[in-house]
Amino acid sequence: MTARIPDAAYTSIVGLSSSVLRPAILKVAHHPWVEHLATRSRVGRAVADRFVPGETLAEALAAARELGDGGIGVMLNHLGENVTTQREALDEREAYLAEVAAAAGTPDLDVVISVKLTQLGLDESVDACRANLEPVLDAASASGLTVMIDMEDHTYVDRTLDVFRAAHARSPSTGLAIQSYLRRTPDDLFSLPSGCRIRLVKGAYLEPSSIVVGGKREVDRAYTRLFVTALDRGHRIDVATHDERLQAGVRERLDGNEEARSRVEFQMLYGVRRDLQAQLAGQGYPVRVYIPYGTEWYPYLTRRLAERPANLWFFASNLVRT
Ligand code: FDA
Repeated sequence: MTARIPDAAYTSIVGLSSSVLRPAILKVAHHPWVEHLATRSRVGRAVADRFVPGETLAEALAAARELGDGGIGVMLNHLGENVTTQREALDEREAYLAEVAAAAGTPDLDVVISVKLTQLGLDESVDACRANLEPVLDAASASGLTVMIDMEDHTYVDRTLDVFRAAHARSPSTGLAIQSYLRRTPDDLFSLPSGCRIRLVKGAYLEPSSIVVGGKREVDRAYTRLFVTALDRGHRIDVATHDERLQAGVRERLDGNEEARSRVEFQMLYGVRRDLQAQLAGQGYPVRVYIPYGTEWYPYLTRRLAERPANLWFFASNLVRT
């Protein structure tokens, strides 16, 4: 049985500077010994359970159904990143084709597909990645499904934009995540195809301070500015954050503007702020939850732990219970 983090624990640790702890947590987590310990132990799996509903597509679909019963859509992501061989990239492609087929076969569920380009061969080349992505885009289009492209660390942004532009030209419903913590993102936004779907996130990776806008306050301000610009430019915007203050700002701007409201959806991660997910859906806003599944959950888990130092308390409490 997995322990839940009491809300009080979140608030008491909120004062700790995430800008100090986050890089430290990510650095420690990337140590091979720490990864070995976490992925081989029952504790690691138990903590991952909070953020990853299972290792199989069937488990992800069961979680999707539960959310669907509460009026919440889902975005399925087969976990994996930085594949090192063509064989692995092909396996990832097959996993996505199976995901598309399953989503097409369950029309009662509201499903979007979300991919990471480094799991489809971006480290090998843009061309290899496009060759793996295109069959997924075509299968999704044929079933009326949307494919979103996650944004990974800054070293991939240019190549991700290249692949996205080609993907959007082939399948115009394709969307892209953009990160408010990067200084370059406002320029990138202006370079995107007009009206394309974007997912606005703060950004989850360990980045050099020279290329990010600053601490939490600056990242939040950048988030709001990007939202306003994207709305003015006619983009369809997925407001992907659990930040209640930012969500409230968005709701205020949408108030009384039906056209803008029709272009915005709130998105959150599986296992994070379920209360907010249900609350927004209950108020009639479109809400979608990102559901990652698969065996390669460790890098995803480290980012979730680093976002919220209180999650380490959760990890420690599970360790004590085993
Ligand atoms: P912030 O970190 O300020 O948190 C606000 C509040 O949310 C916290 O006070 C806490 O209550 C809650 N919270 C946030 N994270 C939590 C956690 N891990 N555990 C428990 N509570 C937490 N990033 C990226 O670089 N590329 C991408 O493609 C994506 N894709 C993506 C899709 C979707 C649907 C979401 C919601 C997020 C992403 N992200 C992402 C991650 C994103 O960049 C960011 O790291 C997380 O959303 C956390 O930041 P918040 O915006 O929630 O704000």
